[in-house]
Amino acid sequence: MFETLSKATLDKIFVLMAEYAADPRTDKIDLGVGVYKDETGNTPIMSAVRKAEKRMNETARTKTYVGVVGNRGFSSAVVDLALGGVVDAGRIRTVNGNGGTGALMVLAHVLGRARPGGRIYISDPSWPNHWPLVEAAGLVPHSYPYFDPRTRQVDFGAMMGVLDGLTPDDIVLLHGCCHNPTGASLSPEQWDTIAASLARTGAFPLIDLAYLGFGDGIEADAYGTRRVVAAVPEAMVAFSASKNFGLYRERAGVAIAIARNAADADIVSSQMQNVLRASISQTPDHGAEIVRIILGDAALRAEWEAELTAMRERMKRLREKLAEAIRQRSNATDFDFLARHTGMFSLLGLPEDVVARLKVDDGVYMINDSRINVAGIPEDRIGELADRLLAAVG
Ligand code: LMR
Repeated sequence: MFETLSKATLDKIFVLMAEYAADPRTDKIDLGVGVYKDETGNTPIMSAVRKAEKRMNETARTKTYVGVVGNRGFSSAVVDLALGGVVDAGRIRTVNGNGGTGALMVLAHVLGRARPGGRIYISDPSWPNHWPLVEAAGLVPHSYPYFDPRTRQVDFGAMMGVLDGLTPDDIVLLHGCCHNPTGASLSPEQWDTIAASLARTGAFPLIDLAYLGFGDGIEADAYGTRRVVAAVPEAMVAFSASKNFGLYRERAGVAIAIARNAADADIVSSQMQNVLRASISQTPDHGAEIVRIILGDAALRAEWEAELTAMRERMKRLREKLAEAIRQRSNATDFDFLARHTGMFSLLGLPEDVVARLKVDDGVYMINDSRINVAGIPEDRIGELADRLLAAVG
């Protein structure tokens, strides 16, 4: 049987994670996988999560199946959080996803059934898993320009040059906020333009919303998603609770489908449930229930929002400090873009051989396209990191 197989390509993010773990150097720096870290380098369990988990454990009476659609209270709280009531609830259907990736998987498979072999446009660059994920769903990925390596900002003219030419048969995958890997995000005015373009062309938006609250705040980060779903008759949103609730391994996410009307929505719902049942049957409930409890309780919700704000502000501070340290040392503003980017990532624009040297010689780990996770910047060693980066770029 297995003699017919050849080795599959593993995701570079997880390959790097394993390399970092195996590196014995004590002064190594992990700017790789996108997980939030505190000043001790730990990815903490949020205190609102701990309290909700405790409450859940004390009151839970069963571990029986929840059902294919998953935890409905979790889904509806997430729909309110992400969409803010801009779409009539009668047009929305949800299932829980196995994390944000699982939500994307369900949505992509439903789209693959609706448009077998259909074109899906993905930003260049994008999260590396987007391509294999949509291919596995029977869609054909194409790219649209996104990042201008010269300015390190969005090349909006080039992006719209492609988006404006799409047709109702095309799907476009958008990062709702905090673009991964570049950190270059869209302004509210640019989102307005995208929403108007989609309404005009009829292209179908699939929005990956994995970092809500990591950029400029929940409301600001939800702007683009809300603007788009309010402007078009049909859309999909994949929400992840991995980052903003720190629930990575619990795999809590929501697949949201918005249809033209309730009858269509029911059909999409049946398709989502069918994809889930045939793949993983049902999603884990542990993280979903934690989020449901937090979002449904005023005090816990306030505590979570305060913790999320603290995480966001820490990442902003790290961006500013690293940009400042590099500016001071180099007398140049080449890395000032770090402070202008938002969310968890920045694409530094370094060649692959420089990235490899940083890893091998200096123990500084980043993805080979030079994406860094800013939460991994060690606050007490920023000068040292700036020195290593400047030495590597020569
Ligand atoms: C990342 O981009 O590093 C994270 O989203 C983790 C992942 O699943 O790739």
